Amino acid sequence: MLGIYFTGTGNSQYVLEVFLKKYDKTAHICTLTDKDITHYIRNSEEIIFSYPVQFSNIPKILKDFVDKNYGLWQKKHIFVIATMGLFSGDGAGILARRLQKYGAQIEGGLHLKMPDSIADERALKRSLERNKALVRAAEQKIDKAVKKLKCGDPPQEGIGFLSYMAGLLGQRLYFYHKTQCYSDRLKIDTQKCVGCGKCATQCPTQNIHIEQNTAKASNQCTMCYRCVNLCPQQAITLLGKKVVAQGTIEKYL
Ligand SMILES: Cc1cc2nc3c(=O)[nH]c(=O)nc-3n(C[C@H](O)[C@H](O)[C@H](O)COP(=O)(O)O)c2cc1C
Ligand code: SF4
Ligand code: SF4
Repeated sequence: MLGIYFTGTGNSQYVLEVFLKKYDKTAHICTLTDKDITHYIRNSEEIIFSYPVQFSNIPKILKDFVDKNYGLWQKKHIFVIATMGLFSGDGAGILARRLQKYGAQIEGGLHLKMPDSIADERALKRSLERNKALVRAAEQKIDKAVKKLKCGDPPQEGIGFLSYMAGLLGQRLYFYHKTQCYSDRLKIDTQKCVGCGKCATQCPTQNIHIEQNTAKASNQCTMCYRCVNLCPQQAITLLGKKVVAQGTIEKYL
């Protein structure tokens, strides 16, 4: 069994690890950008994906990966976990349908509410205690989902037609353009940046480089929010104007 995750602040990696610790301790877990990932996929019949929902859609980097490797999904048994801050409708279904189109057999889906990763948007922020409680609730939900999966009755969250309509009408239709291309909207405050390079080394799309001791962004951002949450100077913003609260999963465990 193989677990594949894409993550910005660690939520999707964490829930996948918790899930597989209970479901199959021998499973191999890797990130989407692992250099050997296609080799792992070829050698696995069962795959669990875990990723963050973005505007009731999948991150551009994940969509591109699935499409580029369209020949790898035939007859794979796939279970999809989607993490989200609040609502997605068909978070797991979006990826499931894409994989199904390429011949995968979808076993089910699981939606997990987790701390919000958009560090520069005040409206979405919760207290530390509330975020910790969310993570604990997600762990309990995983426990139940694993039990159902082991009994041959996997959860089907986000998979059916009603979920599709909820995701489409609830959000995707209005924000569709946001995830269709890589973003060129990442802003770095050069007055605050000290050139530490943390953002550049952590970016999954190599969208940031250091030039004359200052970070510079390009137009290949997949909006994971990793750099925004990690920058020690709070110098990076994307959708908002100012960093309000930074956090990665470790803060909530
Ligand atoms: C660009 C962007 C868009 C998002 N859109 C949604 C959304 O539509 N619905 C939702 O519930 N959460 C949304 N979120 C929140 C994340 O899905 C959520 O915090 C997720 O658990 C982050 O996981 P990660 O740490 O693995 O990246 C969005 C986050 C980002 C960065
Ligand atoms: S992490 Fe922040 S301070 Fe460090 S190089 Fe990037 S923008 Fe500059
Ligand atoms: S620039 Fe930042 S938000 Fe964009 S993909 Fe890279 S790490 Fe993620």
